[in-house]
Amino acid sequence: MNFKSFFVNTLLVIFILLLTGCFSNSTQKATVQSPDQNIKVAFHITQSGQPAYTVKYKDRTVIDTSSLGFTFQKSGELSDHLKIIDWNIKTHNSNWTMPWGEKKEVRNHYNKLTIQLKEQDDHPRKINIAFKVYDDGLGFRYEFPEQSNLSKVLITEEHSEFKLTGDHTCWWIPGDWDIYEHLYNTTSFSEIDALSKRNNDLAQSYIPHNAVNTPVTMRTDNGLHLSFHEADLTDYAGMTLKVFPDSAKMKSVLVGSERHDYKVKRSIPFNTPWRTIQIAEKAGDLIESDLILNLNDPNKLGNIDWFEPMKYVGIWWEMHLGKSTWDISSTQDMSSFKNEESANRHGATTEHAKELIDFAAANNIGGILVEGWNTGWENWVGTANREGIFDFVTSYPDYNLQEVVAYAKEKGVELIMHHETSAAINTYERQLDTAYKLMDSLDIHSVKTGYVGKIIPDGEYHHGQWMVNHYRHVLKTAAEHEVAVNAHEPIKATGIRRTYPNAISREGLRGQEFNAWAGDGGNPPEHLPIVAFTRMLSGPIDYTPGIFNLKLEPYKDDAQVNTTLAHQLALYVVINSPVQMVPDLAENYKGHPAFQFIREVGVNWQETKVLEGKVGDYVTIARKDRESGEWFIGAITDENSREIQLSFKFLDKNKIYKAIIYKDGPNAHWDKNPSSYDIIKETISREGKLNISLKAGGGCAIRITEHVGMHD
Ligand code: NOJ
Ligand code: CA
Repeated sequence: MNFKSFFVNTLLVIFILLLTGCFSNSTQKATVQSPDQNIKVAFHITQSGQPAYTVKYKDRTVIDTSSLGFTFQKSGELSDHLKIIDWNIKTHNSNWTMPWGEKKEVRNHYNKLTIQLKEQDDHPRKINIAFKVYDDGLGFRYEFPEQSNLSKVLITEEHSEFKLTGDHTCWWIPGDWDIYEHLYNTTSFSEIDALSKRNNDLAQSYIPHNAVNTPVTMRTDNGLHLSFHEADLTDYAGMTLKVFPDSAKMKSVLVGSERHDYKVKRSIPFNTPWRTIQIAEKAGDLIESDLILNLNDPNKLGNIDWFEPMKYVGIWWEMHLGKSTWDISSTQDMSSFKNEESANRHGATTEHAKELIDFAAANNIGGILVEGWNTGWENWVGTANREGIFDFVTSYPDYNLQEVVAYAKEKGVELIMHHETSAAINTYERQLDTAYKLMDSLDIHSVKTGYVGKIIPDGEYHHGQWMVNHYRHVLKTAAEHEVAVNAHEPIKATGIRRTYPNAISREGLRGQEFNAWAGDGGNPPEHLPIVAFTRMLSGPIDYTPGIFNLKLEPYKDDAQVNTTLAHQLALYVVINSPVQMVPDLAENYKGHPAFQFIREVGVNWQETKVLEGKVGDYVTIARKDRESGEWFIGAITDENSREIQLSFKFLDKNKIYKAIIYKDGPNAHWDKNPSSYDIIKETISREGKLNISLKAGGGCAIRITEHVGMHD
């Protein structure tokens, strides 16, 4: 190298370091910043040799000094007398394409700082800590490189701290090791009290600490939004965040197992999941963020054209209403609704499935889910040992699976398989091959799985490492048979859909079904205006929106859906999922003018824009349908009515559009008058504005089509 090029190269290195971060060997520090330079992460080793980091946003500290480390079974702590032995910063900037999803093109632009650490003793162990810093937040993870003094680890705890800089407003659910079906709470950080949520009626729940599940979203006094979660949860235990109310600190607590004294067992080399912090000035930017997906590995399945995003009907809501039953002997009953003559109220019959297939085919609905088709339901609830109960290949005698599949195919509708495992994992795993081969042979390309109840084997939790591996095993087996999975009572979403795009949707929140069950008043109007900024940040949701018979008459006297009808329509746009159910009884849709919106709304998007929103209050989202190129808008509000003003900056210039608007009637109200709505048409353009009044618990759904032949 001649002197000139050496000089130029040195300048270049200095320049890149100034842009992306820097390192100081003597002081054991390294820093890295986001491509737009707004987020700065500073890593350092403390006096005692402990790794620690801070995060600044626009020069304001958002995460104060927070330490990092582990406790291992037998080999003790890996959290002090560490020293930085090397480091590097790499910049990455690329694009990738979502096979389906909320947008088509995703930009993956970050600076990655990797710090290599080594213990300062006779048998030093090595650990790397990596930070990837994006414009919309950051992730960090621990990387265990191959080394002579450590070949495997039994992790009893991970010690990742998040020290906040104020008593932020938080939207949280308790740190439950089993279930995510809690209502969200809105409190200041210091008032988080997860243990008070212990006595609940959930099918299975275990809340050992004052901790929260993630994503947990916060707003600072300055109006900045933070959301904490994890990405790429692979062969590891799920993370909850323990809350220290008096010191504004959170710390990782991994989900454990009663079968071992450790929480994670791994051989080296391996990397932990990413611990993520989304940072946004506007609440809506949290929803537009791609951080979680970008922190997952690229698509390993390649082309999955065998899965097509779709709306689907089902033999489902009627069971939750108690109109029919899952099992043939009608013992597994969801309700006290008993005014039918016949004892046999089995929902999944060949005849009923065909009726619904006709309904789907006539209404641009691509799929049908049939629950209660297989043997086992008669012994489900109340049986002490659930192993060996469910059979995933044998139909009840009044349901001819082959005939239903053939009929559906003839009508251009796909059958969605259903597997309620009842959390009897070994029973399911034993049948996995046969069950997925059956789907293969019938050309069935999606399945809804379920994990209701306490995990068998005893001692395991839904979010422990053992179950994380089970869910992944099912996903991979499904992929081999070209089947996409929509899991209920799932492992939480952490962006795995990027790597395995057959992970299409999941529950993992309090779904619509809670509204059908009497007892606790159902989901309040603010539920989805919170979910959109919390649970939805982790990935697609199978919420089952679109109930039209909101008072559930005549089936339920003591339960109802707590929103207006227009709010239900808007959820098809607000909620991101490549499968969206059309759950109500077909008779409630037939001849209903508002059903036109459900027929036409997309499920697979080219682009997504959050127009406005405030966590827990309201949100307005616009999405462009990949198939038709049309824009759809969904706006929802909590229990407060409000006026919103829509602007259409996302539309093309110099074009006139027609908006078909489904909005709350003048006196609509989630409780007093939920079914009142109006359909109006307006001519709009990119430059125009539209004022809409959302009533209490209400919403608005809009389809925008190009006004053919009306250009200026
Ligand atoms: C709970 C699921 O969330 C629900 O959708 C399903 O119908 C029941 N389990 C039975 O599998
Ligand atoms: Ca559920």
